[in-house]
Amino acid sequence: MKEQLEEIRRRAMSELGDNADEAQVDAVRVRVLGRSGELTEIMRRMREVPNEERPAIGQLINQIKREVEARVEELSEKLKAAALDKSLNEKRIDVTLPGMRIARGRIHPITDIMEQMLQIFESLGFEVEMTQDIEDDFHNFEALNFKEHHPARDMQDTFYVEGGMLLRTHTSNGQIRVMEKRRPPLAIVCPGKCYRRDDLSVRASPMFTQIEGFMVDKIGRVTMAHLKGVLTQFAQAFFGATAIRFRASYFPFTEPSAELDMHCLLCDGAGCPVCKHSGWTEVLGCGMIHPNVLRAVGCDPAEYQGFAFGIGVERTGLLKLGVDDMRLFFENDLRFLAQFPALSGGVR
Ligand code: DAH
Repeated sequence: MKEQLEEIRRRAMSELGDNADEAQVDAVRVRVLGRSGELTEIMRRMREVPNEERPAIGQLINQIKREVEARVEELSEKLKAAALDKSLNEKRIDVTLPGMRIARGRIHPITDIMEQMLQIFESLGFEVEMTQDIEDDFHNFEALNFKEHHPARDMQDTFYVEGGMLLRTHTSNGQIRVMEKRRPPLAIVCPGKCYRRDDLSVRASPMFTQIEGFMVDKIGRVTMAHLKGVLTQFAQAFFGATAIRFRASYFPFTEPSAELDMHCLLCDGAGCPVCKHSGWTEVLGCGMIHPNVLRAVGCDPAEYQGFAFGIGVERTGLLKLGVDDMRLFFENDLRFLAQFPALSGGVR
């Protein structure tokens, strides 16, 4: 039996050499130390051993058991460490490599310009109100004193949608929508998208942004002088100190009507191709609200008076940012958009 034990030990230890892999180690462990393994088998046969030899054989069994256990343990540890090493080596990460830069977004320059404008009007006491893009004829035209056959109602200019509705052609519908539900005194700006059947070109787009503004109060409290004061303040705050002028014009919903011109920012009034050598560029339309518009919202023009104005945000953006093609604002090429620092501090 002693020889048998020595043979078990010799075989186990030779199989548990330094190059044994996990499967081999496991096989030896099961074969020698397992519940029906070689050592267990020998223990069962102890009664065959003469009494005086039993202690020595018992000791030998225990010794072999400890030896094999220790060797199995040692090899398992070694194999585990090697496996870890291998996986660390294969999936090595160089933490000193520079990281990937994630570009930070910013608001679109047109949204930014619009926000700057709204902030200026808010600082002058105006409130911001949003109104709808999909309008009916009454709010987009009729209440604004467009006569039935006014050319702007022509299919050429207006996008009509189902149910007799249309896409508003200007934000002037804001005057009607707001005054239908609120009574003067009012000082309101309505920003929003407008739509016209124009081709996209250097100076025009079928979708564009406007800010409509208006101030209405009892007769004598809001005059043409206030109109000039507010818009002069605006032009100075937005463009800096540039020369401006009010030029007589025509709109159906204002009387008298005017356009505000500004010294061309590119040539500072000297005359250049952009301002067609006049030295002036057109910034916005404005005027005293027509009595028919006040009547349409149930305000008696004998009692109330007000002014209104409308600014094209993209056109003004072209001037302010020194961009010469409106299409650039809509193509959304990040190389273009990223050139303008955001100034307004966010969107509302
Ligand atoms: N609605 C005009 C347009 O789309 C802009 C405008 C001009 C608005 C004069 C006004 C105004 O309120 O008084 O071209």
